[in-house]
Amino acid sequence: MLELKNLTKCYDKRKTAAVSDINLKVNKGELFGFLGPNGAGKTTTIKMITGILAPTAGEILIDGISIKDDPIKYKKNFGYVSDTPNLYERLTGIEYLEFIADVYDVNSEARKAQIQKYGAMFDIYNALGDRIKSFSHGMRQKLVLMGTLLHNPKLWILDEPMVGLDPMSAYCLKEEMKEHCRQGNTVFFSTHVLEVAEKLCDRIAIISNGVIVAIGTIDELKAQAEDGNLTLEDIFMNVVRRQE
Ligand SMILES: Nc1ncnc2c1ncn2[C@@H]1O[C@H](COP(=O)(O)OP(=O)(O)O)[C@@H](O)[C@H]1O
Ligand SMILES: [Mg+2]
Repeated sequence: MLELKNLTKCYDKRKTAAVSDINLKVNKGELFGFLGPNGAGKTTTIKMITGILAPTAGEILIDGISIKDDPIKYKKNFGYVSDTPNLYERLTGIEYLEFIADVYDVNSEARKAQIQKYGAMFDIYNALGDRIKSFSHGMRQKLVLMGTLLHNPKLWILDEPMVGLDPMSAYCLKEEMKEHCRQGNTVFFSTHVLEVAEKLCDRIAIISNGVIVAIGTIDELKAQAEDGNLTLEDIFMNVVRRQE
C-alpha cells in the first residue's frame, strides 16, 4: 500500500540528514505505528509522503503510484492530519468541511452522514456553525480529523493524531483507526506515546536520528531482543540508546 525506498531528506543548512535511507513497506489492512523520540524524523518523513516536502533522494509509492507520475491520483488515495492543525480561520467549521467535501467530490448524502457521525463522535457538532478562529486546539484537531475521515481515503496518514484530544475523543479515534483497518484500509501514524502503539499497532517502526532502528510486530521486536519479558518501552529505550 505504502512503500518508502531509500528515502532521504537533508534540510539545506544541516550537514546530517534528518531522514536517512529509509526503507519501509506498509501493507494493505495494516495499522502501522511510526515511533521515535522528538526530532527523530517522523514529521519530515510524513511530509515527504504527503508531498509537502520533496525528498533529497529516494522514492515513495502509494498503491504502486509515485507522486511524480500522477500527483492527483497519488494524493486522492490518502487523507492527512498534520501535527499542527492550521486551518482557514475565517471559515466556519461547516464551511471548512463542505470545502473539503467539494475538493474530494463527496456527494451530498455521504457528506451529511459523515459530518453527523463524526460530529457526534467528537462532540463538536454544535460548534460547527462557529468560525474556526474561535476554536480551541483540540477542536481544531477534531475538525482536521473530520475533514480527513470525511472522504474515507484508503490510507490515513496521521502525525501525532492524539495530541490535544480529550480522552473520550482519543478513544473514539483509536476505535476508528482499528475499524478502518478492519475494513481493509491502512493507517500510518506517528506517535511518541508507546502505550498507544503497543495496544493499537499491527506493526511498528522505530526511527531514531533519521534512521530506522527497529521494525516488526511487537512480538517480533520482543523476540529480536531475546527477552520476551521486555515491554515496548524497554525495547524502545534499548534501540534508541544503541543508535545514539
Ligand atoms: N524545516 C526544517 N529545517 C531544518 N531542519 C528541520 C526542519 N524541520 C525539522 N528539522 C530537523 O529535522 C530533524 C527531524 O525533525 P522532525 O521530522 O520534525 O522530527 P519528529 O517529527 O520525529 O519530532 C530534527 O533535527 C529537526 O530539528
Ligand atoms: Mg513530529
